[in-house]
Amino acid sequence: MKYFNHLSTTLLAGMLGIMSMNAAEGIEINHLGTNNTLVRVSDDARYLLLPVEESVDDATVNVLLNGRPETTIYVRLARNKVDYYVPFDISRYKDSEVVLNIVTAQGRSSVREAKDDACWKTIKLSDDFDTSNVEKFRPAFHHTPLYGWMNDPNGMFYKDGTWHLYYQYNPYGSKWQNMTWGHSSSRDLVNWEHHPNAIEPDGLGAVFSGSCIVDKANTAGFGKDEVIALYTSAGMSQMQSLAHSSDNGANFNVYPGNPIITLESEARDPNMFWNEETKEWNLLLAHALDHEMLVFTSPDLKTWTLQSAFGKGIGAQDGVWECPDLLQLPVNGTDEKKWALICNLNPGGPFGGSATQYFVGDFDGKTFTVDTPESGVVPTKWMDYGKDHYATVSWSNAPDDRKVVIGWMSNWQYAAEVPTRQFRSANTLPRDVSLFKGNDGEYYMSVLPSPEVDALRDKKVTAIKSKGISKKGLSVSLPKANDGICEIDFRLNSPKGQPVTVTLSNAAGEHVDMVFNPSDHTFSFDRTQSGLSDFSQDFPAKVKAPTLRESTSQSIRMFIDRSSIEVFDGEGNFALTNLVFPTSPYSTMTFSTGAGKATLNSLEIYTITPSTNN
Ligand code: FRU
Repeated sequence: MKYFNHLSTTLLAGMLGIMSMNAAEGIEINHLGTNNTLVRVSDDARYLLLPVEESVDDATVNVLLNGRPETTIYVRLARNKVDYYVPFDISRYKDSEVVLNIVTAQGRSSVREAKDDACWKTIKLSDDFDTSNVEKFRPAFHHTPLYGWMNDPNGMFYKDGTWHLYYQYNPYGSKWQNMTWGHSSSRDLVNWEHHPNAIEPDGLGAVFSGSCIVDKANTAGFGKDEVIALYTSAGMSQMQSLAHSSDNGANFNVYPGNPIITLESEARDPNMFWNEETKEWNLLLAHALDHEMLVFTSPDLKTWTLQSAFGKGIGAQDGVWECPDLLQLPVNGTDEKKWALICNLNPGGPFGGSATQYFVGDFDGKTFTVDTPESGVVPTKWMDYGKDHYATVSWSNAPDDRKVVIGWMSNWQYAAEVPTRQFRSANTLPRDVSLFKGNDGEYYMSVLPSPEVDALRDKKVTAIKSKGISKKGLSVSLPKANDGICEIDFRLNSPKGQPVTVTLSNAAGEHVDMVFNPSDHTFSFDRTQSGLSDFSQDFPAKVKAPTLRESTSQSIRMFIDRSSIEVFDGEGNFALTNLVFPTSPYSTMTFSTGAGKATLNSLEIYTITPSTNN
């Protein structure tokens, strides 16, 4: 990178009155007008640290290398104050002249006013960017990006003992923008390592959600065991693109023939899999605004033929259909297998905003046929009854034919407003899914924490064998270590059908109230008093899951992290995933009935050692 003559440009610019006098060493700033500024970077530092103020609009930052356009990123450059910095890696441009041609969104009445923006005084060069985990609400054992915004998990595949996880990522701010495939991997599904971005926006647009497969038979011609990614290129329109990786998903080569699928209407989130029965590739594509999923086939992953569409008028329809997946699942306790089509929907979830519905039926390689009861009305089924479970899809090529899924632990209603800053959003714990037959004859999805999650347990700090529960309430202390992160397993029995309330509370008077109601076979979760909630009117909520069994007893596995609670029915009949932001960790758990007696058959509490997610 060339050095410019700092002194002479300072003098000249000073005379002309166009240069910010406070620009950091190695940075030259020229104000060109009320909303246009040139930033010339002449230093060998690793990063240009960009100051962000979340409440202002994005500035368009056109990066020029030796005068030629290299890329454009959108950053909320600070106007009044700096909320945090994001790093723009300039080390890759070492031998080039780097100029940022920046157009700020805020029009100013004069250049003088524009020059006062906080960003020009605080933009700086650095060899380091601090990613240490200091935020109170940062999860301790859930996958979370080091910094920046994350939405959908996508492109997940397993290969040679490693679980790869890509995700919708904004490296330049903690709100949605600059969609890129971030990349993490894990050998055990609970400790995560973070890697450089895998696929970045190009001339066709940002990189929206998609999927990866391992091309074991070299059907695409890029080589045996090549990892192939299909994703949505989102520019003016949405189209589907291919990229491939010969180093196990670390670096991808974008296919020169992109896009490989174009339609005349909005379609996204390609999800492909090898169909062993038809010996062809299948692909599902969300025909988002048409509320349907398109089914394609291909011999080579490059040429795709549209075969059918599923979904018009079926299931929940009150939002766009996104992020499909189609899985062949075993029916527990039988030799039967059925197909489950996962359809993420936003808004239109059972408790507002985003949620994951699924349909069970048959698939012949070309058409998905949903099981339809005699009434003719296909029931709407949800994979999780909490408010914070979205964009859930499965890992491709998982060992032992396991179907392992993970979801984005947030909701489009308030994801950009939650009280975190350096990062926004985490993923759910990984879950293994299968099917079971309910008493009503319907097939439902069984959702259980993946067996790997057991490794999170540290010490068993509470073990209760059998205790009565009454109106008075039975209270137990929760662990204090690591801000109270823990796993709680319990079994309740309420033979007379009285509802049993399970409360988590802290000294600040904040509480979460869960109710097992054997009379109407439901388990509810109320977070209206759970802690901070005024950042969005949609956050306070009471949600309810059907237990899908007629029993007076109920077993639960619950995972409490710093800002989330995941509740799993012991046998997988339902799951409830909810964010919470208590001002101090919940310290007490209380079991009570409104009247009459019930029993706590067992209670075990395990501390959790933070995993490496950060
Ligand atoms: C779902 C979604 C996808 C899209 C992605 C963009 O949350 O809207 O349909 O690919 O997010 O980030």
